[in-house]
Amino acid sequence: PVVALVLAGGTGSRLYPASRADRPKQFLPLLGEESLLSRTVERAREVADEVVVSTRPAFAEAIPDHAPDAEVVVEPAARDTGPALVYATHCVRDLYGDCVVVALPSDHRVEGDFADTMRRGARVAADTGSLVTFGVEPTRPDTGYGYIEPGIFVGEGGEGSEKGEDENGYAPVAAFHEKPDAETAEKYVDAGHYWNAGIFAWTPAALLDAARDTPLSGLVAALDAGDDAEAAFEDVPEVSIDYGVMERAADAVVVPATFEWDDLGSWDALERVLDPDEDGSVVAGDATLRSVDAADNVVAGDDKHVSLVGVSDLAVVAWDDRVLVVPKSRAQDVRDLADELKSRG
Ligand code: GDD
Ligand code: MG
Repeated sequence: PVVALVLAGGTGSRLYPASRADRPKQFLPLLGEESLLSRTVERAREVADEVVVSTRPAFAEAIPDHAPDAEVVVEPAARDTGPALVYATHCVRDLYGDCVVVALPSDHRVEGDFADTMRRGARVAADTGSLVTFGVEPTRPDTGYGYIEPGIFVGEGGEGSEKGEDENGYAPVAAFHEKPDAETAEKYVDAGHYWNAGIFAWTPAALLDAARDTPLSGLVAALDAGDDAEAAFEDVPEVSIDYGVMERAADAVVVPATFEWDDLGSWDALERVLDPDEDGSVVAGDATLRSVDAADNVVAGDDKHVSLVGVSDLAVVAWDDRVLVVPKSRAQDVRDLADELKSRG
């Protein structure tokens, strides 16, 4: 079977104050009525026989509100996506045996033939036993994404082909570069690298074997030995799947994605995915906006009425009893603020 593993354990600190410690971004209805998580679960059902949601303990109780019929796997402690995916993939193998896992983050906007690309990726994962990544053609030198450098493409018949020549082609990953600085990102875009969509396909054996040569080897060994999960997580490092496993993997391939894609990581991202009003501003959540001589702003709120006069290129967010104002160009820096507020309680 194909098992979708939906990742829903992150906090989304750059979307403060909408996302808070007890209400991460995947629970928010940022793209319409439904939460990002329930939209992801719906998408997952198109491609998978089973849907499993992976999360941290603090969010476990809330998951069924967004994913009523899904299996939920809760890692004993939040240690980023590396340990989460190793643990959840191990659980999936216990539940469903040999299968192909498709790992899906719950903070994406996807339009177009998602299922088609996923089925192709799942097939490649089953046929080759490689770790499959999905490459999105970049449209800007974004520093919030990982980049994938493709090797020589393998065409449908198994022989070499050019990038873009064969719609069913895929390539070995020559190198994986997680979140470069702006100058390096520019070079990667010029060189024809892909964005890493953050979506993966693998057989449990492929991921667990790859993780044996990484800082997560201890976790794999403990789980294989049948240790209880709490104990297995005791000394596990906090590391993302990208730094922890993908950058080191000997056998990874990239399948070009043919859908439209965006990661809703920070407030400026909403501008790319929502329809602008006549002043070029976008409004998310249940907020309404009145602008006088104000343009190109991103406004979000829970049932708030926002008025802007004579300002532009800002993100203005009003949620609960909190207000955030930040230039769109500095939307990534909200991460620092959220960390600070969290530590103050
Ligand atoms: N279960 C669990 N536990 N899930 C987690 C945890 C955790 O500790 N931390 C994060 N997640 C979930 C998030 O909820 C999200 O759905 C997904 O894992 C990805 O985490 P992000 O924190 O959003 O990652 P990112 O966007 O910074 O980077 C990744 O995705 C990019 C594309 O969206 C990387 O894979 C990049 O290379 C990639 O370009
Ligand atoms: Mg993300």
